[in-house]
Amino acid sequence: MCGIVGYLGTRPVTEVLLNGLQRLEYRGYDSAGLVVSGPAGLKSHRVEGRIDRLRSLADSSPLEGRAGIGHTRWATHGAPSLANAHPHFDASGRFALVHNGIIENHAAIRSFLNQKGIEFQSETDTEALVQLIGFLYQGTGDLLESVRQALRTVRGTFGIALLSSEAPELLIAARRGSPLIVGVGSEELMVASDASALIGQTSQVLYLDDDEIVTLGPEGLHVSDLDAMAVERDLVTLDLTLEEIELKGHDHHMHKEIHEQPASLQMTLRGRVNAADRKFVLGGLTSLERQLPNVERALLFGCGSAWHAALIGEYMLEELASLPTSVEYASELRYRNPLIERGTLAVGVSQSGETADTLAALREVQTRGATTVGVVNAVGSSVARETDAGVYLHVGPEIGVASTKAFLGQVVVLAMLAGYMGRRRHLSDDRLIEFLEGLEALPDKVKEALETEQQMKELAYALCDREHWLYLGRGVNFPAALEGALKLKEVSYIHAEGLPAAEMKHGPIAMIDKGMPVVVLAPKDGVYSKVLSNIEEVRSRGARVIVVTSADDPELDQLAHDVVRVPETHSLLSPVVTSIPLQLLAYHAALAKGRDVDKPRNLAKSVTVE
Ligand code: F6R
Repeated sequence: MCGIVGYLGTRPVTEVLLNGLQRLEYRGYDSAGLVVSGPAGLKSHRVEGRIDRLRSLADSSPLEGRAGIGHTRWATHGAPSLANAHPHFDASGRFALVHNGIIENHAAIRSFLNQKGIEFQSETDTEALVQLIGFLYQGTGDLLESVRQALRTVRGTFGIALLSSEAPELLIAARRGSPLIVGVGSEELMVASDASALIGQTSQVLYLDDDEIVTLGPEGLHVSDLDAMAVERDLVTLDLTLEEIELKGHDHHMHKEIHEQPASLQMTLRGRVNAADRKFVLGGLTSLERQLPNVERALLFGCGSAWHAALIGEYMLEELASLPTSVEYASELRYRNPLIERGTLAVGVSQSGETADTLAALREVQTRGATTVGVVNAVGSSVARETDAGVYLHVGPEIGVASTKAFLGQVVVLAMLAGYMGRRRHLSDDRLIEFLEGLEALPDKVKEALETEQQMKELAYALCDREHWLYLGRGVNFPAALEGALKLKEVSYIHAEGLPAAEMKHGPIAMIDKGMPVVVLAPKDGVYSKVLSNIEEVRSRGARVIVVTSADDPELDQLAHDVVRVPETHSLLSPVVTSIPLQLLAYHAALAKGRDVDKPRNLAKSVTVE
């Protein structure tokens, strides 16, 4: 959701910014821009569209200087046009700002400044902030103080980087609710909204907290709060490599990430499950030793794919830990009056750890007394830092906008959490061992499930012209059906709906007409025979039935038009393998339709606005 990068140092600044922006492009790709502070003041380039266009412009008209900031935009306020592209300037042209987030009181600030005779050039909320800084500077004559005053005035969220011709070798950055990382190299400093922009530049970083400002200048960096009190922050080592974010021979990140899943799940499980010793080792939860015996219920929340993973987690926590569990959309939870009873374990699920709704929901349940756990991929992210304890996914960076390996990582971490809680409660040795063995076997099973690729590709090309698809599943495979439908929608733009298989006859079955693709998840589990009946129901209405199953069943072969075989797993873990062909189907359908798989329209990775 928008990407920000800033640089101060001796290397060619435009090149450093463009490389950083290229890595951040998955955060938003509606428009892009950069500004450099050089001998001739602030000079900028902006384009509608993607970083490649910005690069061409910068190549044809180079900008030179020691400091610069850049931005790739996912439009919130104002259309994705050139006028609304960042950086934005104040009326004097002395201040340039790039911003990630939403300034909620931008309209009030705009009308106040309009009354003072200041005219705006764009429709963005960002311009309200930079115009305010410029206006305040007329009174204070102090750059940093003007920024502080402006940030105290604005409501909403921001990650910002600012340059001023008043102090050409100073870069100011600040955050509230939007991530911002400072990278420290030898004789150079960087800021970025996402660690991927810093990889290969420096491994020493510092994470800013909300309402903190950092100044980067020739004398180094200085962190303070909005009241000008100095803040001490330690440098930490960034645990990401260039290799992890490269395509490594794949055409798209989504394809690479789908195929990485046997290895990424190995990382998720490593050192945490041990069937021989009958235990789960979740080091991130040891700080909750005192609270865990008092846990009486669980509340899971997240958005999109993370919400789907949480729904699967609900089945697992109830089944293995006998914990009454509810699952909420984070965006709904934050504005309800959630009744957090004593003994509630609230689990926030998030790949990025920066999703605005998830973070707000977390803060809401925290103020109501819940013990909080984060199931997060991005190390050091806001959700990870603000929860009482957590279990990282460790699946490596996910660059494809559609979540694949992080979704499976979330499911597997929630499975381990369920087993861990079950062990502390009523789970028998036999069931525990069976579940641990099921987890240990997953990477190999996922590898086997990836062999369905050719079949899924053929189906995708054969059926991609069908406008409406249904995905059906029962039990743990109902959320997997929801996730399969979401994958197809977001990367191919084909309309798809996920449903509990038996619910279909209560209304949606009316949509079925001849040849409508219906993807049914039917692993050989306790509800298999029920799902067969549901398949009969859709088949008899003319649907084109594609069944993903672990069953070797002649009756099913008769019933389905296409049978996609995946290996058998522990029944609670079957979504981990049934999801694989659905990811591949979505990927190939997107290619068949000529879509931009890694950057689907209107989307961006990590939704840091409401
Ligand atoms: C779908 C997808 C989104 C995210 C959602 C939450 O493929 O990626 O639905 O799952 O935006 O993101 P995180 O997990 O970063 O909180």
